[in-house]
Amino acid sequence: MLQVRLLKLSQLVSTTKRLRHFYSNMDCSELLPPASVRGMTELKREEFKKSVKIPRLHVPESKAQHVMPLVKKLLLKMEQLRPVRAVESAREILLHPLPVKSWQSLPTEELEKTTTDRKTFPMYQLELQYENWSAQEILKSVLPVGEEGLSSYSRIGHIVHLNLRDHLVPYKALIGQVLLDKLPNCRTVVNKAANIDNTYRNFQLELICGEPQYQVETKEHGVTFEFDFSQVYWNPRLSTEHERIVQLLQPGDVLYDVFAGVGPFSVPAAKKRCHVLANDLNPTSYHWLQHNAKRNKCLSYIQMYNKDGRDFILKELRENLLERWRAPTDHPYKLHVTMNLPAMAVEFLDAFRALYTSEQLADLNLNLPLVHVYSFAKGENTKALVQELVESNLGASLTQELEGISFVRNVAPNKDMYRVSFRLTKELLTTPKQATRKRCLEEELVEKQLTNKVKCV
Ligand SMILES: C[S@@+](CC[C@H](N)C(=O)[O-])C[C@H]1O[C@@H](n2cnc3c(N)ncnc32)[C@H](O)[C@@H]1O
Repeated sequence: MLQVRLLKLSQLVSTTKRLRHFYSNMDCSELLPPASVRGMTELKREEFKKSVKIPRLHVPESKAQHVMPLVKKLLLKMEQLRPVRAVESAREILLHPLPVKSWQSLPTEELEKTTTDRKTFPMYQLELQYENWSAQEILKSVLPVGEEGLSSYSRIGHIVHLNLRDHLVPYKALIGQVLLDKLPNCRTVVNKAANIDNTYRNFQLELICGEPQYQVETKEHGVTFEFDFSQVYWNPRLSTEHERIVQLLQPGDVLYDVFAGVGPFSVPAAKKRCHVLANDLNPTSYHWLQHNAKRNKCLSYIQMYNKDGRDFILKELRENLLERWRAPTDHPYKLHVTMNLPAMAVEFLDAFRALYTSEQLADLNLNLPLVHVYSFAKGENTKALVQELVESNLGASLTQELEGISFVRNVAPNKDMYRVSFRLTKELLTTPKQATRKRCLEEELVEKQLTNKVKCV
């Protein structure tokens, strides 16, 4: 008797273990769309119809409450499918065929107590159709096997932004339609048409499905942004980086945002009651930056400019810093400069050199800003490469000034984006680039090699 009990217990334990497991429909070929849809380039929804045998429990209404907890994790979960249905005075429960191969795969002892008869466990013929599969399941069944499928896309408000590899281009109309059908609130599907190599860094888009409507509203860490995605730069993959910088800031701190875009650093910082000077060269970005500052009710904390980053450093940043140093306050605050134009921000670093004369800074108590400059690097030791890039453009080796080099994201195979954070010094701010670093032939050679290695996109 004890042995039987132990056996039942171990059965129950193993069943419970199995119950904790998540059963993916992707692992069960019976539950995937018909094999005949492979290679389809024009979406024909009717060709997804399929009939499958599914284990089904038939439970009297009065027992349903006892049975449900026992089989909850074995339920068949598919889109637009209710696994528990009322049929006259009973409940029909559809189970997942992967864990439930037979009556024995179920917690039978417990089920039998509820008088659920094993005879009422026939297989059920279920008719599946296009509506029952997720976008991922549909695309996995259609796109070529062995080649990379649609691994990721970005979501910006109602827009889905794809970057299709060449082998998927023949399927673009189908992919667009499936995403439009399946993703909640998706109204526009676009594909990246070319690399971002224009000045304003906005993506060149090709509409592949839905409305040609590019004005979006999206949220990043609770802050609402509006902009025209076809005219400005916005990348949801930078949201963690935006948050990291905003978290460094305390109310009363100062942020100089040299390449501000539509404000993902500047607007949250101003909302946090930091004093922000934000700049962007793109007139459309500048328009939406102003709009977002207004919409987020932080206009009194932000000054906005529409000019070249170098001019902004040479005038607005320079003057504002000097004013602050000349008017010391009892309230300590920190100063930060963000330079997120990773393809070329390093080329603006020399603008900090000799920004002031030594006389102008004499006797001033300098509260020196921390610069966060972003850069891409391509090749083997990308971290060392970005440091060299920053140093050669700044014209100085970074030792104590260097606060850190942080990996931001992998942009492409062998190409990474980094943030280099370093403190400006009085020496950097008062001496020209050439004076602190005597260039020799060897250094120029290193620089040439870097230029060849680091390709900016
Ligand atoms: C990569 S985006 C970054 C935008 C934003 N800071 C972010 O993190 O998403 C770079 C921005 O720099 C702007 N830009 C490009 N060249 C510029 C320049 N010479 N001076 C100022 N802004 C520039 C572009 O218009 C774009 O909005």
